[in-house]
Amino acid sequence: MDFKTTIQTRHATRWFTDQQIPPVLLQDLVKLAQGTPSWVNSQPVRAYIATGKKLAEIRAQHTKLSQDPDAKTDPSIPLRPSNEWDEAAQANMQNWMENDASQAGEDWPKLAAQASGQLFNAQAIVYLTLAKDYSNWSLVDLGAFSQSLMLAASVEEIDSLPAYEFTKFNQPLREALNIPADQELIYGIGLGYADQTAAINKIKASRMDPTDVITFLD
Ligand SMILES: Cc1cc2nc3c(=O)[nH]c(=O)nc-3n(C[C@H](O)[C@H](O)[C@H](O)COP(=O)(O)O)c2cc1C
Repeated sequence: MDFKTTIQTRHATRWFTDQQIPPVLLQDLVKLAQGTPSWVNSQPVRAYIATGKKLAEIRAQHTKLSQDPDAKTDPSIPLRPSNEWDEAAQANMQNWMENDASQAGEDWPKLAAQASGQLFNAQAIVYLTLAKDYSNWSLVDLGAFSQSLMLAASVEEIDSLPAYEFTKFNQPLREALNIPADQELIYGIGLGYADQTAAINKIKASRMDPTDVITFLD
């Protein structure tokens, strides 16, 4: 697969089939993602990969917490209310909700909530961590690492989802994963094979016109 096809193939998959990914392949994907540049080659990102029984345990815990009205979310990076984002970002997010997501049908919010509650049936989740007192530069590195991982997956025809949802119940998840006290659990990337029959996978996110993103200075 050439690079252009790879980058065009990757998209957020929100429901995976039950087909598992061989552990050796998961290790290869992380090894490729390690090729990502980082601040002075500090290589701050660590990956905890849950599959099989461990993931089933985490999924059950997540479903239970999602259904509990008293359960509090405690993500490592706090959510920012949409009205506090800049105007262009607000317009893009609104467009996603009004146009992009509705490709999954009118009841997409219900489908999305159901899928989220079951961790999108991801067959492997790569949880990414940084040292507790990380520099913001490490967050830049983690974002780049994530994209490398997802593109490496695309080449292997493995689908992916980067999601806040995976780590929004941070403390119970830390315990389930046995994350050391000196590591901050940032977010996760779900991997698997897209269920082509799932309506929720019909969502195709649009993009701004490049001329609205680029400022050329000659
Ligand atoms: C940091 C981050 C967190 C995200 N969290 C979620 C999430 O919790 N639930 C979800 O359904 N999608 C989540 N997404 C997926 C985005 O909604 C998706 O990437 C965006 O709409 C663009 O669509 P595309 O990935 O198909 O190009 C997240 C993406 C990123 C980068």
